[in-house]
Amino acid sequence: MTKTVLIAGASRGLGLEFAVQYAADGWRVVAGCRQPETARGWLPAGVDVQALDVTSPESVAALAWHLDDAPLDLLICNAGVAGPDSSRFAAPGDAAFDEVMHANVLGPARLIQGFGSNVARAGGVIAVMSSRMGSVQETESADMLAYRCSKAAANMVVKLAANEFGPQGACVVALHPGWVRTDMGGAEATLGVSESIDGLRAVLDGLSGADNGAFIDHSGRRLPW
Ligand SMILES: NC(=O)c1ccc[n+]([C@@H]2O[C@H](COP(=O)([O-])OP(=O)(O)OC[C@H]3O[C@@H](n4cnc5c(N)ncnc54)[C@H](OP(=O)(O)O)[C@@H]3O)[C@@H](O)[C@H]2O)c1
Repeated sequence: MTKTVLIAGASRGLGLEFAVQYAADGWRVVAGCRQPETARGWLPAGVDVQALDVTSPESVAALAWHLDDAPLDLLICNAGVAGPDSSRFAAPGDAAFDEVMHANVLGPARLIQGFGSNVARAGGVIAVMSSRMGSVQETESADMLAYRCSKAAANMVVKLAANEFGPQGACVVALHPGWVRTDMGGAEATLGVSESIDGLRAVLDGLSGADNGAFIDHSGRRLPW
């Protein structure tokens, strides 16, 4: 039976690569993009490109209406922003902080609230694109306060969702894609997008119920919170 994946933030970078790879493997791909008309220009034919801004409750609700009760084998909460780039400890301004937290924390929470039961019904996977930069234990610098705090908070969203939707049949995980050459990762990053997504897809393929609530990187390594 054809599997269905909903990817939030599929216009560029890692989300786009997920869409390309899953479409090539015959999945039904629903690609949520802020500018669907533009993204349709480079997403593969057959991908269902839908308007989605994860910071807008109305936008998430409209997509939920579009999908109705359709079972989802995979929900990838990929949309994210980096926020202010600081190399030393620096509290960001209110607007910058709000932008990062709304996209990176409230965004996945809203998506999981909107689509968690579609995934649970299919016995599927909810994956939140977190970051190793959100691991409190592995933090050894003072940079990127807003981004790091947002990903640490997104990890809590994952744990909460694992407790809610795990018993209903879903597996909920936080993922770290590695440091990847995208607009966000920059040209100096160590991994290409296809390498990262190949790894993450292998991780997603191999998940079992025992992985519910785990934080895992593209190589399959379990990360500490
Ligand atoms: N690259 C890395 O090294 C790295 C490392 C760790 C974690 N991550 C995480 O992986 C995810 C993807 O990163 P990336 O490197 O692919 O970033 P990217 O190249 O900057 O792409 C970000 C994607 O998120 C979308 N987006 C941002 N805000 C959105 C919103 N409010 N609603 C819907 N879509 C939104 C963007 O859409 P537009 O085109 O409309 O802006 C774009 O498709 C992020 O969550 C990031 O934090 C990346």
